[in-house]
Amino acid sequence: MTKLLITGGAGFIGANFVHYTLKNHPEYQITVIDKLTYAGNIDNLKSVMNKIKFIQGDICDRELIDKLVSQNDIIVHFAAESHNDNSLRDPWPFIQSNLIGTATILEAIRKYGKRLHHISTDEVYGDLELDDLAKFTETTPYNASSPYSSTKAGSDLLVKAWVRSFSINATLSNCSNNYGPYQHIEKFIPRQITNILSGLTPKLYGTGEQVRDWIHVDDHNSAVHSILDKGKSGELYLIGANGEQNNKYIVETILELMGRDKNAYEHVNDRPGHDQRYAIDSTKLRIQLGWEPNFTNLREGLKATIDWYTNNEDWWKNEKAKIEAAYAKQGQ
Ligand code: NAD
Ligand code: DAU
Repeated sequence: MTKLLITGGAGFIGANFVHYTLKNHPEYQITVIDKLTYAGNIDNLKSVMNKIKFIQGDICDRELIDKLVSQNDIIVHFAAESHNDNSLRDPWPFIQSNLIGTATILEAIRKYGKRLHHISTDEVYGDLELDDLAKFTETTPYNASSPYSSTKAGSDLLVKAWVRSFSINATLSNCSNNYGPYQHIEKFIPRQITNILSGLTPKLYGTGEQVRDWIHVDDHNSAVHSILDKGKSGELYLIGANGEQNNKYIVETILELMGRDKNAYEHVNDRPGHDQRYAIDSTKLRIQLGWEPNFTNLREGLKATIDWYTNNEDWWKNEKAKIEAAYAKQGQ
């Protein structure tokens, strides 16, 4: 059995990764470390607690990380502060977890000679023009816009520097916008679904023309497994499933799928520094590692996601008022 340490495994993508791995890769013995910040939810792992080891802890805790890295073979590093809007309210937790946390993991990887896969985002490349046909590739220069994306860019550069300077065994992946079950309701798609379920009006920032490249979380995670299986040390892979849509289309589709008037949303204050468009060219991953996405119909994926939030009200209901109160303060 290969011992796999998953950081941030109680968050959205990390928890889905744990479930995906248990179902599809029985060769791994899983340990999760998660601080359980506001974004981490132990209930995401409730059904598999007897199959994994769970440790509540901070990736900035050097002693703990040293011990856990020494005890495992591969570290898949998801843990991060992940929400742009929060990084505009208070950047400090982002600097701490995304930069210091990653550096802490890298030092332990170097000490024990273990393998790292670092999870990152397409936002490290900044944004593309709305009327541009270009997509991000592995050679696009880093040009991050927000405190969140700049700390993710910084964490990538730390990994690259440890590869070059210390020859650690590490791969990186930069993925586009994920959707699916267990996503925190502060994020765009779950916020709009739970607004409608709560009798609130969906909220579109600014014009709603901004474009995101949506991918189902299981496709992100299957790509990570392709990289664990076949990726080359020192390489970075872009992950995307050709899911480009503007925000207006997403809100209208959610409203329609939930049986509402597709125009029943409101425009609210725009996000400062709002990135216009993200788009991924995932040719390298597809050609070199043979990966393909399974969820290519966004409408069907949205329908399944709506069903999940509808059937799991207990999972999000208690958080809703607090999240909306924080947005309301910003006119969002
Ligand atoms: P999330 O906010 O849902 O989960 C993050 C998890 O990390 C939480 O469980 C939280 O408790 C934990 N965490 C945060 N700081 C920690 C610390 N100091 N020590 C230990 N645990 C800590 O985030 P997500 O959307 O699941 O994103 C996971 C990773 O994927 C992040 O690195 C993010 O940058 C990256 N990513 C996300 C997306 C997306 O669309 N959500 C796309 C590309 C890449
Ligand atoms: O591209 C990958 C990134 O995708 C990840 O690195 C981040 O962790 C993840 O949060 C996501 O970042 P975004 O900022 O793109 O996602 P968010 O869900 O916050 O917003 C998606 C789009 O929807 C964005 O253009 C802002 C807009 N939006 C968001 C909210 C919360 C709205 O119009 N209304 C809203 O209420």
